[in-house]
Amino acid sequence: MDYAEFVSRLNQHYDELKWLYCELYQNDMMAFRYFVDMLRRSYTDRKQELRDLDHERLADPEWFRSNRMLGMMLYVDNFAGDLQGVRVRLPYLQECGINYLHLMPLLRTVKGRSDGGYAVADFREVQPELGTMADLEALSDDCRQAGISLALDFVMNHTSEDHEWARAARAGDPVAAARYFFYDNRDIPDQFEKTVPQVFPTTAPGNFTYLEDCGRYVMTSFYPYQWDLNYANPMVFNDMTENLLYLANRGMDVIRLDAIPYIWKELGTDCRNLPQVHTLSRLIRMACEIVCPGVLLLGEVVMEPAKVAPYFGTREKPECHLLYNVTTMCSTWSCLATHDVRLLMRQMDQLSALPRSYSFQNYLRCHDDIGWGLDYPWLEQFGVKEVAHKKYLNDWFTGKWPGSRSRGELYNDDPTLGDARLCGTTASLCGMEVDEELGFLADRMLHAWMFTQSGIPVLYSGDEIAQENDYSYHDDPDKCEDSRYLHRGRFDWALARKRHDPGTIQGRVFEMLRQLETIRASQPVFCADAAFFAFPTGSDRVLGIRREREGDRLTALFNFSEEPVTLHLEGEEASDLISGRKLDLTNVELPEFGFLWALSRTD
Ligand code: GLC
Repeated sequence: MDYAEFVSRLNQHYDELKWLYCELYQNDMMAFRYFVDMLRRSYTDRKQELRDLDHERLADPEWFRSNRMLGMMLYVDNFAGDLQGVRVRLPYLQECGINYLHLMPLLRTVKGRSDGGYAVADFREVQPELGTMADLEALSDDCRQAGISLALDFVMNHTSEDHEWARAARAGDPVAAARYFFYDNRDIPDQFEKTVPQVFPTTAPGNFTYLEDCGRYVMTSFYPYQWDLNYANPMVFNDMTENLLYLANRGMDVIRLDAIPYIWKELGTDCRNLPQVHTLSRLIRMACEIVCPGVLLLGEVVMEPAKVAPYFGTREKPECHLLYNVTTMCSTWSCLATHDVRLLMRQMDQLSALPRSYSFQNYLRCHDDIGWGLDYPWLEQFGVKEVAHKKYLNDWFTGKWPGSRSRGELYNDDPTLGDARLCGTTASLCGMEVDEELGFLADRMLHAWMFTQSGIPVLYSGDEIAQENDYSYHDDPDKCEDSRYLHRGRFDWALARKRHDPGTIQGRVFEMLRQLETIRASQPVFCADAAFFAFPTGSDRVLGIRREREGDRLTALFNFSEEPVTLHLEGEEASDLISGRKLDLTNVELPEFGFLWALSRTD
């Protein structure tokens, strides 16, 4: 064993590691020594192939910022039954051009109390119906061979009430109880409730759950069966970091830090994004840099932009490698419903002001609802009010608004705050259930827009064959309360088989995506290090984006409305990347939901 490498990486971070750890845990040196020893154990546990990959990635730290990256997220059971099934289906994913695969939670959980796998009962065991840890490792080996990076959730804010710590706590073990937030009466819970908002106001109201069998209250910010871990206890942090490194050592390339803004709780605050959360994520980053430096951290920070960017940390003290581009996603759907792109232009101005080294994961849909976290203070100047606007968006996307062809469903409708969120697949929200042709055009324009953004584009499985909503969850007692299952349907292989038939919608969408992805991968102007900014097109219906890199200039236009628009832009001669034809930007006609990728040279 080459401990010299471990020692040298540890030494590189030692002062900061010790400083932050001791500050957070009041100089608990025993806990710190345990932490360092745990890092050494985890380093020893890392197999040679993974260490080789670490070295490769250390030599090319920008590997995930290439224009060739293309992601997909999927549920193992919906897509292929189990992990072995995913191995068999890898050629399909390769045909889709995927080289980054996010597997939705697959660790042991209890049916009916699983929150889609986000209530983990054992961080080292795969859900038996999906396979075993050995199957997961075998899949990761296959993926590595195929050049596909694997991402897995690390659900760190809470455990399932069925986790062994929770069971021991419930049975009266005080050491186990100290891993959670346990209270004998409602005094402290009531104080928390005064300042802490609710994550699931309708499906899981309140932030505490009363445990009848032991007569105590436990903090449950999400569902009542998801018990919040207390990270003020260093044993929790030590053991959870060890669990994270265990998964990294099974061959995961990207670890998604689920619900990270929530992991530190403090009375009198909203318990979101507290400074200690950043100390913890910095400590986790250093732990990975010591044990598995090839592994990336993807922060799940579903918050407004000002709260998101701090999770990148600073240049000298980085935290997450990747963050979700959540505001762009929400703003995109909002602009589709209003046929007005000014909100996205504003959002692009904010994004292009960030350092180009920040890397985002871009997406149109994922397994969660759309939360309408828009820039309301800015929208106010146009007379747009938060509650009324959310109501409009929800009416539009549930098809209630006259003229809308969208077919979504509400999620966690909170009538007191007027704060409903929204569910549905990309195809259904684009209106394909009602009008296939217009739905296709909107779907194509939105995907082209997603591929234009800097970062890693991630498709939601099923979108490549325009899969529509799955209404069958209404009849499943374990799912019917949670409308997110509307867009968590089984992957339809019968539809997927039509993907090569250009006469079908599946064939058209599949081919269209392949074309866009291939162009993106072949043009360096799509690299994450390109300059990227929005420009006024003369029409509030058309979003204009420029990307510039080494003399290449991409002018991208997206018509968010159902009306054709003619634009007169300044500009040099360009070529249309889709048709290959020469273009005159001084006179551009964009049909309904049309888009354009025009490439020119600035020199
Ligand atoms: C994250 C997941 C979501 C889950 C929640 C609780 O936000 O994306 O699906 O319900 O965490 O773990």
